[in-house]
This record gives sequence, C-alpha cells and structure tokens, in this order.
Amino acid sequence: MNKQNISKMSLFLMGLEQRIKDRIDFFKGISAVYKSGTREYKANISIEDGKLKINFNGKTETAEIEWLSARLSKFGENYDSALVTYEERGTTIYIEADNKNVKMSVKETGTKENAPDIKNGYHSETSQIANRDYLIKIGQADDVLKEIGILSENGKIKNDMIRKYNQIDHFVEILNGLLKRLADKNDCITVLDSGCGKSYLLFVLNYYITEVLKKKSYFIGVDYSETVIQASRKMASRLGYNNMEFKIMDIRNYRPDRKIHLAISLHACDTATDYALGVALNNNVEAVVMVPCCQKEILNQYSYDPFSQILKHGILKARMADVLTDGIRAMLLEGMGYKVSLLEYISPLETPKNLMLIAEKVHSENKKAMDEYNKLKDLLNITPTLERVICRGIET
Ligand SMILES: C[S@@+](CC[C@H](N)C(=O)[O-])C[C@H]1O[C@@H](n2cnc3c(N)ncnc32)[C@H](O)[C@@H]1O
Repeated sequence: MNKQNISKMSLFLMGLEQRIKDRIDFFKGISAVYKSGTREYKANISIEDGKLKINFNGKTETAEIEWLSARLSKFGENYDSALVTYEERGTTIYIEADNKNVKMSVKETGTKENAPDIKNGYHSETSQIANRDYLIKIGQADDVLKEIGILSENGKIKNDMIRKYNQIDHFVEILNGLLKRLADKNDCITVLDSGCGKSYLLFVLNYYITEVLKKKSYFIGVDYSETVIQASRKMASRLGYNNMEFKIMDIRNYRPDRKIHLAISLHACDTATDYALGVALNNNVEAVVMVPCCQKEILNQYSYDPFSQILKHGILKARMADVLTDGIRAMLLEGMGYKVSLLEYISPLETPKNLMLIAEKVHSENKKAMDEYNKLKDLLNITPTLERVICRGIET
C-alpha cells in the first residue's frame, strides 16, 4: 500500500487505541487480514494483562496498546490491502485500506436495525413470543440467553423457559425508563444485586445496558452462598463480561468501595431485603428496585387494638403483616427522599411474591414523610430492621 494510505489507516487505528483504553472491559478482539494478490495473511490481536498480544506470520509479540497503530500500519506496507476488524461488546468496527481508498465503518450489533425479525425469522413457534416486542431479543442476545439457560444450543427457546424469558424481558421493560435516566446522568452505571443467587438478572442488565443502551456499566453481585457466587463467576468468564465482580459475603457486612447507582434485590428472604435496602440507603444510591420475599419480622411484632377482632384470625394478621412490611419500607424510603412506586411485576399466579418496589432519589430528605412513618411505627408498636440498619449502619 502507498505511504499516503498507510498514514490514513494509522490515524483510524490511533482512534481505536483510545477506544480500547476507554472501553477495555468491553474489548473482545482485533483481527487484521492483509492481502497480496490472492494470498491472505492474518494477524490476531488479543489483550492480556493490559497489553496487546499480536500474533502475525508465526510470531507473537507483546506491546503496549499505544503501539497498535504503528504495528498494524507497518505490516500493511508489504501488502496490497488490509481489513482490520475490531470487536467490542455490541459494536464491530471495520477499517479497510488499499491503494485507492481507506474507509472505516461501524456495525452496531445490539440495535433494533440489525435485529432478525422474531415474527418472520427465528422464533415464530409460539404466538406468545412473536406478538411481543422484546427488549432482550433472540438473535441479538443469544450468548447471554444461552448462558442463563433460556435458549438451547441451536438458538431456540427451551419449552420450559418461555415463562422465564417473558419475566426477564418484562423486568427490563419495567426498568427501561429508569435505566435510561441513570444512563443520561452518569458516565458509568454501577448496579449492585444483594442476594444475587446465580445473578441471571445482572447478566441480562449487563447485556442490555452495555450492548443495547451502549453505556458503560459495572455490576456487583453479593451472596453468602459460595456455590452461587462460583457459578456466577464462571458464567461471567464464559461470556467475557469483564465488568462484573461477585462477592461471597453476608449483605450485612458489605461496604461498597465505589458509588452504586442502582441497587436491586430479588426475593432476598425476610429481613435480607431490609439489609439490601440498608446498603442502598446508607450509600445514597440513586435508585432501588426490590422484589421482597417472605416476611416474618413485622408479623411477630405488630398489634393494633382497633383491628383486634380482625387480627385475631391468624391468616388475616399474616396478610396484613405483608402489606405493613412493604408499606413501612416504602414510607421510610419516602422519608429518606425517594419517590416510591409499588407494582405487581408478574402475575400472582406465577408467584405470590410478585410485588416490586421501585424508588428513585428526588430530595435530600422528606421530613413530613418521616414524621408520618414515625407516627405509624409507634401506633403499631414495631421496630423495623430497616430503620435500625439505617440509623446504625449495617449490623454485623
Ligand atoms: C431466593 S434466592 C434469590 C436469588 C436471586 N436474587 C434470584 O432472584 O434468582 C435468595 C438469595 O439470597 C441469598 N441471601 C439471603 N440472605 C442473605 C444475606 N444476608 N447475605 C447474602 N446473601 C443472602 C441466598 O443465599 C440466596 O442466594
């Protein structure tokens, strides 16, 4: 290739050097194919320990990322043309160069335009699937959907996983507006999942925020079960999701070492939800999404004389306790300056534990709401864990 086009190619490659440094967690690989007549010579470039590992013509060398442009341009001097393919999660960039032209093109792999049509394409086997406009699309999100067991190896939804796929997609749909608001306000969104289990929602959120919304993001899963954390780590490694960490730890002992923007927790048992909320509130997170699980604490504490003839029936006392537990959590969050909404996120036929609490920080605090909370707490004779956790910091 001529000198002029080699130097144009090297300018595009310098842009890639910066992109790799800015988005190292999302890097997947680079290949370059050089042509001389009909013969092709391929270079493969990976990153190990923050350095380029360049394999070309049987030789492997290690170089700083800043050397990418110089190395690939230099190789180009001996050939007629080059095609460099840079891949990161959600985006592929091509740089094509020959003696006539040098051009760069970008393909977004997580966007609607590139999506195979679910109705006409891959998966029209159930009208239930075909009729919804999914955010986590088959044909685009296959790697993550396979890893969490929704898709089989041949790319079809497993029969017994249709419901779970719908639930996951609906979860993202509910959070979509909130995620976009967080993405507009922050350069990188950090999401904490307390009691993460096998972290399937974290993986899906990671895919969606990174590859569809195209925002930098970081994910932390905390669970005291070593088995689920080891499984989550393996899944992240297989997916090449480098922007995740998983901690084997009781939520009560967890102190974040970075700013958390969104705290989530699904079906963390009993007061584990309060500890998850406690981490969120004590760290002033911007938003909280919780789906509580079973609850016993308030049931064992509360009494209210005017209702004594109703509450003498155990079943009614228990149902009322469920409502009070989530109600006082919501009131306390409002007192701390959050705007709270509560909704049924899936049908109660799928699980009765289907209440979702979504809270977004809007004020520094709301004294009126906190006074209301204190009045109700005194009326019911209760001392909720959440309040203790917020006042004292997380208990150990
Ligand atoms: C019912 S599972 C839900 C898992 C996951 N969130 C999901 O929706 O699939 C509850 C998880 O919370 C974890 N857990 C409960 N209490 C915890 C605590 N105090 N600290 C850390 N993990 C806890 C359990 O080990 C379990 O993995």
